[in-house]
Amino acid sequence: MSKETVSLLLTFACGILVSADTSQYFQVLIREIDNPSGNIFDGTSCSPFRFTGYGCNTYLTGGVAAGPTLNNSFTNTQLNFHGETKIDNLNLIVNDIYAKDVSEFTGFSVSFILKTADGGIIDEYSFRVNTTENQGVYVYNSVRPGTLSTTISIAWATNIPPPSETTTTEITGTTPTPGPTEPPTTTAKLPSDCDEVESTSSGLQTIYPDGSTPVSVYCDRKNSAGAYTIIQSRGREGSNITFDIPFANYSDWFGESGVGKNFWLGLDNMNNLSTNGKTYSLQIDLCCGTQLMAKQLYTNFKVATKAEQYALTASADLPGIGLDYSSSAKDLGAPFSTQLTYSLPKGKAECDQFEFYDDDNGGAGPSKGYGGWWYGSCGNNLNGFLYPNNNGDCSVTKFDSTLLLGINMRTTTGTATGGYDVDLISYDRVRMALFTFDTTLIDRTDSSFCN
Ligand SMILES: *[C@@H]1O[C@H](CO)[C@@H](O)[C@H](O)[C@H]1NC(C)=O
Ligand SMILES: *[C@@H]1O[C@H](CO)[C@@H](O)[C@H](O)[C@H]1NC(C)=O
Ligand SMILES: *[C@@H]1O[C@H](CO)[C@@H](O)[C@H](O)[C@H]1NC(C)=O
Ligand SMILES: *[C@@H]1O[C@H](CO)[C@@H](O)[C@H](O)[C@H]1NC(C)=O
Ligand SMILES: *[C@@H]1O[C@H](CO)[C@@H](O)[C@H](O)[C@H]1NC(C)=O
Repeated sequence: MSKETVSLLLTFACGILVSADTSQYFQVLIREIDNPSGNIFDGTSCSPFRFTGYGCNTYLTGGVAAGPTLNNSFTNTQLNFHGETKIDNLNLIVNDIYAKDVSEFTGFSVSFILKTADGGIIDEYSFRVNTTENQGVYVYNSVRPGTLSTTISIAWATNIPPPSETTTTEITGTTPTPGPTEPPTTTAKLPSDCDEVESTSSGLQTIYPDGSTPVSVYCDRKNSAGAYTIIQSRGREGSNITFDIPFANYSDWFGESGVGKNFWLGLDNMNNLSTNGKTYSLQIDLCCGTQLMAKQLYTNFKVATKAEQYALTASADLPGIGLDYSSSAKDLGAPFSTQLTYSLPKGKAECDQFEFYDDDNGGAGPSKGYGGWWYGSCGNNLNGFLYPNNNGDCSVTKFDSTLLLGINMRTTTGTATGGYDVDLISYDRVRMALFTFDTTLIDRTDSSFCN
């Protein structure tokens, strides 16, 4: 457990949860509820305003119990007044008033119903956490057919003594009617990546790459060997989020996670994953429309610290293309930069990525849309300007007044057509996904991400 988590738990246990009487207590702190799709259980939108990020007004009914009696301790408590999808930092404390009668702590039960203001059911949770730890945190992801799961993040603390025989933490859970049942989804350790989120389904799930700060990411479990953690994605779904933002903004996550949406996990989080002792591989999927154009694999993916300019390292499985393509330098080994923080590699007059935009702007310097990247070869930029394919065609014409370079990744070796470092193709759906399973288990023709 990281220092951050420990201090968080101590804050939780000592700072917030001061029980009124000195007898036994059991309390949970609901930290976050996330309803990413803005849909209620039956799949309908809870609001006629269907712009991205608009969620449901949420009313919570439920209770927690360390012992056998599970009473609703509150009914229709309003959590959010607007339609926010994500309800962060709830800090809603739920007490079990019967905890004082519990002889030993073997875990607890949780039952919540989330409803909209007019009574539509958003989701229901009913699960048991079997544990003898007297404090912990976990995340529970439900399954809602046809729509994204809702996530609840709660912490617990108790002073009820555990039974003398030590048992381990096990969590069982179900989503009761009207929902399907789901196997256990989490343990008390905060998951740092999608592999550690105990779920069997793909969808938005909460991970804690730095050990304590929740980030909602898309977890893809289509490969039965393990989960992909999506650290970057671009596409035409959801909000049209610009990646043309200052260097400093790339440190933390931004955007919106989900298939075909625009999301960046953040360089600090990528660095945290790089130093957590696991070995990650990177898969890059490049799509034009629904067509998979290329899939690239890199092992030993790492992003260095901020002081080391978040330099990228990895080993390409195919040399000379993608991040391993070299002009005067490669993206592998390059620091992260935007045009404004970019320092030209030796012997290279201009980075193609920027030259195009500058020319588009009459040579007047930065115009728009280039985004931050590990500009080593200047042949690639998955954070470039997103523009939709033209009837399935993703080719880019230089100096066209509207078509900019866009989202590039070299899939060919050597200098590209016209002497450029860029392939002159701009993808309109891409993603960067981290995984820990063996790369031989990957079907390189799998185009499911593009559909
Ligand atoms: C709630 O607690 C009261 C008081 O102990 C008890 O009489 C009642 O049966 C409980 N309800 C449920 C549903 O357990
Ligand atoms: C958790 O505890 C409940 C109630 O004691 C029990 O019915 C259930 O089997 C336990 N689950 C596991 C996985 O041990
Ligand atoms: C995560 O990254 C941040 C920023 O670099 C750093 O301060 C923090 O210590 C890291 N946490 C872990 C657990 O590596
Ligand atoms: C960049 O981050 C700063 C500080 O968090 C924020 O105020 C600003 O809106 C962000 N800018 C963009 C373009 O996202
Ligand atoms: C995103 O917004 C920009 C600027 O408004 C626009 O030019 C572009 O076509 C939009 N892209 C998509 C994919 O909608």
